Amino acid sequence: MTTQLAKRLNGKTVLITGASSGIGRSTAFEFARSSPQNLKLILTARRIDTLNEIAVEIVQEVGNGVKVLPVQLDVSNPEEVRGFKEKLPAEFRDIDVLVNNAGLVRGVAKAPEILEEDITVMFETNVTGLINMTQAILPEMLERNNGAGVGDIINIGSIAGREPYVGGGIYCATKAAVRSFTESMRKELISKRIRVICIDPGQVETDFSVVRFYGDKDKAKAVYAGCEPLTPEDIAEAIVFAAGRRENVVIADTLIFPNHQASATIMHRNNQ
Ligand SMILES: NC(=O)c1ccc[n+]([C@@H]2O[C@H](COP(=O)([O-])OP(=O)(O)OC[C@H]3O[C@@H](n4cnc5c(N)ncnc54)[C@H](OP(=O)(O)O)[C@@H]3O)[C@@H](O)[C@H]2O)c1
Repeated sequence: MTTQLAKRLNGKTVLITGASSGIGRSTAFEFARSSPQNLKLILTARRIDTLNEIAVEIVQEVGNGVKVLPVQLDVSNPEEVRGFKEKLPAEFRDIDVLVNNAGLVRGVAKAPEILEEDITVMFETNVTGLINMTQAILPEMLERNNGAGVGDIINIGSIAGREPYVGGGIYCATKAAVRSFTESMRKELISKRIRVICIDPGQVETDFSVVRFYGDKDKAKAVYAGCEPLTPEDIAEAIVFAAGRRENVVIADTLIFPNHQASATIMHRNNQ
């Protein structure tokens, strides 16, 4: 039995940034499982060895109907992003779905103590990187379908983009920028058949907090103490759901919480 979602995803080419870990990695598996007969996946991140391992695991699990292309790409490097499309083999060039997922948070410092390096890396990855990727992929999406355009741009925002919190000044600002850019673009592309989709997760347990605390796993674990956070699979399912709707249906905006969470900072903890 083939689901409507599987039929709609059949034959698509999906590009995921930040596919080496967490939400991006789970999204790669979820697309592959949802359309195992005929799908092309371009997986990008800085850790190419991890991407290569994921590519092997995906094909082992779903078979050769899914073609996986791992490509090393640092989205914060504009030159790499500019040269990216030319490096793709011809069969992977017609990208149908771009999942702008690569992103990170560094530190919990408050102004005026925020490290300049952290400010730069968060903006260059979460904002400029996402915009540069979008501008690299969008021209071909616009040309296709006899100039009417085709494709999905799925941006991963955050509850942090809607609700700034103490110690998240820069990260929250980057995700607010993602939200704003996404909404402008949806309006700019109103006459085109391109869907602009925003997925805003609440708390998800990935390496996100490990990166925030510069590799300190104990501090990262403490973030989730007494909580049951979302899994990266929960967000991956929402991303694939959005990409798998009928062409005229746009899941424009979503906010996804685990059951214990009601805002960026309001969570119920079992140990309290
Ligand atoms: N976890 C949460 O609670 C949460 C909540 C809301 C939103 N989000 C958002 O979800 C997205 C994914 O995060 P995650 O939770 O899955 O964290 P994660 O497990 O740390 O994954 C982050 C991914 O981004 C990639 N990345 C980071 N910098 C990059 C760069 N310069 N160029 C290319 N790729 C880069 C990493 O790959 P490499 O290190 O191999 O480059 C990794 O694959 C982010 O945009 C994050 O802001 C997360």
